[in-house]
Amino acid sequence: MTAQRVGALSDIEPGTARRVEVEGAPAIALVRLDDDVYAIGDRCTHQDVSLSEGEIDPDDRTLECWKHGSTFSLVTGEPTALPATKPTPVYEVSIVDGDIYVEVP
Ligand code: FES
Repeated sequence: MTAQRVGALSDIEPGTARRVEVEGAPAIALVRLDDDVYAIGDRCTHQDVSLSEGEIDPDDRTLECWKHGSTFSLVTGEPTALPATKPTPVYEVSIVDGDIYVEVP
């Protein structure tokens, strides 16, 4: 596992998502809720659609695929609504001095 810097906390507005590229893993959707940041695979497991373009539910902590409406837990990556049935990966995030780091295998 290596921690890769993927940007600054101030780059992401609270309540929004942003796609980032990392080395050694597919693209990641960073989702900021208040001062918490979640990192989840930026690919719906139903079809190849970018989840970072979807809608965030801050109460359920899910990200909704805009194409067919599957929602994915930001905490576990598990789908919580059909049609997707497979989880998308989630990555550990740390924030150090205002910079966001993601643990990538
Ligand atoms: S492509 Fe995401 S739910 Fe179908």
